[in-house]
Amino acid sequence: MKIEGLFPLALGQVQLRPDPLALARQLQVILELRGKAEANPDPDCAWTGDLNGVWQLHRHPTFTGLIDELTGHAWAYLQALGFERQQVALHLQRCWPVVSTSGQVVGRHHHPNAHLSGVYYLNGDGSGRSGCLRLWPDRQVNELVPGLAVGHESPFRPDARLPGGWLRPWVDLAPRAGLFVLFPSSTDHAVLTNDDDDGRFSISLDFVLTAPAGSAAAEYLAPHPQEWQPLA
Ligand SMILES: [Fe+2]
Repeated sequence: MKIEGLFPLALGQVQLRPDPLALARQLQVILELRGKAEANPDPDCAWTGDLNGVWQLHRHPTFTGLIDELTGHAWAYLQALGFERQQVALHLQRCWPVVSTSGQVVGRHHHPNAHLSGVYYLNGDGSGRSGCLRLWPDRQVNELVPGLAVGHESPFRPDARLPGGWLRPWVDLAPRAGLFVLFPSSTDHAVLTNDDDDGRFSISLDFVLTAPAGSAAAEYLAPHPQEWQPLA
């Protein structure tokens, strides 16, 4: 029997070649911005700039060039998905550093404030030792009985949950210096434990789509923010 995989989640990946000097400067600035804080504030939780007032990294001179490059790749992702570039405006809403030290994690969450999310890795050797990005599907429709695959004494063979199996519960992605990944903001994700002695450095980006300025919005696409009327 042929079984076809339907409705794939679009995970964008692009490997950049960071300039070593620029990268060293970026790491130094992130540590300066973090200051004395090292957690969020639970000691097991990585420090994330969005919760600590550091959510506009794209306006910091050390990062503007990098963020411009990443934004170009966000456009490429949208075009690959089938968006007509002239018919949408892409906004960078938030951009913040994340620093995970040894033993720290980021719990499972998604970004309801945004439409498209990205993560850029400043370090990582591809081994996953510093903590993989874990992505979950919206729902495990192929287990047929909701929750069956994780229930006690599951009736599934172990290979059903391996990569390529129909019940793969998640996808883990290992950080690598210069790797940029993009995925729909509604996707649940987490960062696994940093088992390395070194810090794990990444930059998160949240994008929002609206209609282009001055054009009528498609149904369900918000008009451009410059068309909005702030109320007293
Ligand atoms: Fe996140």
